[in-house]
Amino acid sequence: MAILIDGKSISTQIKDEVKEQVSELSKKGITVSLAVIQVGNDPASSVYVRNKKKACEYCGIKSLSYELPEETTEEELLKLIRDLNENKDCNGILVQLPLPKHINEDRILDEISPLKDVDGFHPVNVGCLSIGKPGFVSCTPAGVIELIKRSGYTIEGKECVVIGRSNIVGKPMALLLLRENGTVTVTHSRTQNLKEVAKRADILVVAIGKPKMIDASYVKEGAVVIDVGIHRDSENKLCGDVDFESVEKIAGAITPVPGGVGPMTIAMLMKNCAHSVELQG
Ligand code: GUN
Repeated sequence: MAILIDGKSISTQIKDEVKEQVSELSKKGITVSLAVIQVGNDPASSVYVRNKKKACEYCGIKSLSYELPEETTEEELLKLIRDLNENKDCNGILVQLPLPKHINEDRILDEISPLKDVDGFHPVNVGCLSIGKPGFVSCTPAGVIELIKRSGYTIEGKECVVIGRSNIVGKPMALLLLRENGTVTVTHSRTQNLKEVAKRADILVVAIGKPKMIDASYVKEGAVVIDVGIHRDSENKLCGDVDFESVEKIAGAITPVPGGVGPMTIAMLMKNCAHSVELQG
């Protein structure tokens, strides 16, 4: 049976470290603050936003809340971001996605100052990651690296296979594993012989967006399996992209859903907020 990788306890460790850092900064008279912007009231987004604000409170980070109506125009949102870019009392800016259809997401994300882009979505930060310069890294893949390392697994020299190539998870995940000296393969919906490729992995990161798609037939015995997916199954229970019951019998270690990668995303957002103070000098 696989060892369970406990994202909840590792995320608490990280938030406690951030809390300590924030408290040291406050002794020097520095406040860390995060602007959280939500447009409209998508219920899933409201839950995420509430959890982000709660985490800020836990860590001693001041959250500046902007709950804007669905009808907000792109120009109005751009103006708010420009104001926050200039605002010295705001270290980080987070625009909760998805945005309403009439707003161009890329245009909004590109407007956020790369020095305040705690989500790590700005092309400048994506570029910095790809050439190994300091900057913000997308929270979910950064959280996956922390989960693997803090659970005592080595990435260096290992066969790492990423299933999924999204801008938010798959691509930055591959770059981060490469930065840790893994041997990295990125697979996706058009990959031929996916099972064979996945079975080579010592570390398998699954972010394909299909409930329970990856069963034991994709997994090498003893592999570390990280499940980034989150869905509701036919019984309305949370599940991931990995068929947990099948894979836990063969994997060496596995993340559960919930309680694996999920809590790490918010912990890494908090870490990025503290880091923003350093980047802003
Ligand atoms: N919506 C779903 N995931 C995310 C995320 O990581 N950041 C933001 N801003 N919106 C999201």
